Amino acid sequence: MTAAPDDAARLSGISSASPPAEPAVDPAGAPARQRDAAVGGRFAGTVVLVTGAGRGLGRTIAEEFAVEGATVVVAARTARYGERTVREFRERGLSASLVLGDLAERADVARMFDEAVARHGALDVVVHSAADNAQGLLAEIDDDALDYLLRSNVYALHWITRAAVPHLSRSKLPGRMIFISSGAANRVFSPGLNAYGSTKAYLESFARGLAGELGPLGVRVNVVGPGLTVTERMLGHLTHAQADALASTYPLGRAGLPEEIAAAVLFLASREASYITGASLLVDGGASMVPFPARGAMNDSAGH
Ligand SMILES: NC(=O)c1ccc[n+]([C@@H]2O[C@H](COP(=O)([O-])OP(=O)(O)OC[C@H]3O[C@@H](n4cnc5c(N)ncnc54)[C@H](OP(=O)(O)O)[C@@H]3O)[C@@H](O)[C@H]2O)c1
Repeated sequence: MTAAPDDAARLSGISSASPPAEPAVDPAGAPARQRDAAVGGRFAGTVVLVTGAGRGLGRTIAEEFAVEGATVVVAARTARYGERTVREFRERGLSASLVLGDLAERADVARMFDEAVARHGALDVVVHSAADNAQGLLAEIDDDALDYLLRSNVYALHWITRAAVPHLSRSKLPGRMIFISSGAANRVFSPGLNAYGSTKAYLESFARGLAGELGPLGVRVNVVGPGLTVTERMLGHLTHAQADALASTYPLGRAGLPEEIAAAVLFLASREASYITGASLLVDGGASMVPFPARGAMNDSAGH
C-alpha cells in the first residue's frame, strides 16, 4: 500500500505537493560509455553513495558510476579497503571520497550520510551493496552472529533510509535508491546461508514498500538480485573455474561478473529507467530457474 503523501512528506522533511519530474529519456539513448573519462558520462553531476564499496561488488558499482562521470562516495567499514579504492579511483582521474563506518551501528550510518552531504552538498543516488554474510545452520547460528547479521542487513535498511531520504527527495534529478539483494532471497536456499537469505527477503519486501512510500516524492526504489558472482569474497571460497563449474547448469552456464551486476544497477539509476520503481531485477544467468542441487551436492563453500 502506498503511504499517504503526508507520510512521505514527513519522511523527507519537505512538501510532497510537487514531486520532481524525472527528465525525459533522451531519444538518442544514453551516451556511449567512456571508460577512460570521468566527464560527460551518463552520471555527470550526480553524487552517488555506495555502501560496501571498499571491495567486492560495491567497489565495482562505485567504479562504473565514477567512470560514467559521477562523484562517488565510497562507504566502507574497513579503512584500508576504502582508502585503497578511493586512492586507485583518484589515480585514474575519477571523482571519489571516503566515508567510514559500520552499518550495524545507527550512529555510524547517520554520520556517514551527514559527512557525504556536507562534503558534496547533495545526494542523488544511494546504492546499498554492503551485507554481512554470517554463515551457519539455522539451528546452530548463535545470538552474537544473529545480532550482527540483523543489525547489518535489516536494521541498517531503516537507518540508511532515514539518513538518505531527506537528501534524495531534494535531488534535482530526482533521487534513486538501489538495494542489492540475492538469488538467496526466497528463491535459492543454500545450507548455511538461510539466515543471510532471510535478511535479503526482508530487504526485497522493504524496498517494495519503500518504493510505494517514496513514489509521491519522485524517488525511485529498486532491487538488483545477483546470482553467483565472481567477487573477492566468492574467490575466498572458490576459484573462478570452480564457480563456473557450479554454474554450469544455469541457462547461461557460468558465474556472473561484477560488471554485469553493476550494469543493471546503473540502468536502474539512469533516466532510461524513469518509469521503473518497486522492481526486483534478477541478474543471475538464469540460476533461479534451475532445480536446487540434490541433497549433499552442495556444501557451505558454494558461495551465495
Ligand atoms: N558475490 C556473490 O556471489 C553475491 C551473490 C548474491 C548477492 N551478493 C550480494 O552482493 C553484495 C556484495 O557482495 P560481495 O560478494 O561483493 O561481498 P564482499 O566482498 O564481502 O562485500 C561485502 C561488503 O559489505 C561490507 N559490509 C559487511 N557488513 C558490513 C557492515 N556491518 N557495515 C559496513 N559494511 C559492511 C564489507 O565490508 P568489509 O570490506 O569491511 O568486510 C564488504 O565491503 C552483498 O549485498 C551480497 O549479499 C553477492
